Amino acid sequence: MTDIPRLRFHDGNSIPQLGFGIWQVPPTVAAEAVESALRVGYRLIDGAYLYMNEAGLGEGVKKSGVPREDVFITTKVWNNEQGRDKARASVERSLKTIGVDQLDLVLIHWPVPSQDLYVETWRAFIEMRNEGLMRSIGVSNFNADHLQRIIGETGEVPVLNQIELNPELQQPEMRAANARHGIVTQAWTPLGNGRSFEAEPITSAAARSGKSPAQVIIRWHIQLGNAVIPRSVKPARQAENLDVFDFELTDDEMTAISSLDAGLRTGPDPSVFKLM
Ligand SMILES: NC(=O)c1ccc[n+]([C@@H]2O[C@H](COP(=O)([O-])OP(=O)(O)OC[C@H]3O[C@@H](n4cnc5c(N)ncnc54)[C@H](OP(=O)(O)O)[C@@H]3O)[C@@H](O)[C@H]2O)c1
Repeated sequence: MTDIPRLRFHDGNSIPQLGFGIWQVPPTVAAEAVESALRVGYRLIDGAYLYMNEAGLGEGVKKSGVPREDVFITTKVWNNEQGRDKARASVERSLKTIGVDQLDLVLIHWPVPSQDLYVETWRAFIEMRNEGLMRSIGVSNFNADHLQRIIGETGEVPVLNQIELNPELQQPEMRAANARHGIVTQAWTPLGNGRSFEAEPITSAAARSGKSPAQVIIRWHIQLGNAVIPRSVKPARQAENLDVFDFELTDDEMTAISSLDAGLRTGPDPSVFKLM
């Protein structure tokens, strides 16, 4: 069984550095995908109410036979459920749908600055964490100004900020902003839709180490210190993406991969995104 390193949160809890994401995993196959991910060794499942597969997440955990306390479960509150009462109802519904007494981590999915509810939502998160609905609270897609605002207005620092990060979107400033606050950076769409699988720094590191382009990219995240949550519904790829702890990229390979940064998002810009 792969020994996955853990990253420590400033609140004393910790998270596996490598986990399994379930965006776009259809509800009909979610239980099977989560069960097989846990069987190959993942111990972190990254879900969200938006993904419409929380029931499958819970079912997969139960079917896997892995004890609940050994699995780290994240979910997120969607944009149209921000605000004190709606955020609480969203977290209570996720607890019920997943079928657990407590979540390990809940994130505000996007800041949606145009509706100006993320500070109120963050206050609700603090209350719910203090009541024990979740062990830790964090955010997703927050820019430095959004982080500054919730920290300034509440004094509570998120434990983690989940942002889009891959070789073509390396976000050095956001990683530095998170680090300044002691916030773990977690990478979403970490494989970047395969856009750099054929790029020379990736293919040469893959050839040198006998690993696949996906493994080189996941290893690059690990060596940068990112938490990372790749997704595959295929058990063989789930295992492949976990098999990244028996090799190292050289400093030259890390530098060559950093040259692929083109500032190109696959997803929307958090400062303007407001889909409800
Ligand atoms: N907070 C947010 O706003 C946000 C946004 C997007 C994503 N996320 C989270 O981040 C997680 C990961 O992001 P993602 O799902 O967009 O993308 P990803 O993990 O970067 O890539 C998934 C895609 O890559 C393929 N793939 C996986 N492993 C592979 C391998 N070893 N070789 C070749 N292809 C491979 C998968 O296909 P197969 O399934 O066919 O293998 C799938 O099409 C999500 O599941 C979700 O939990 C969060």
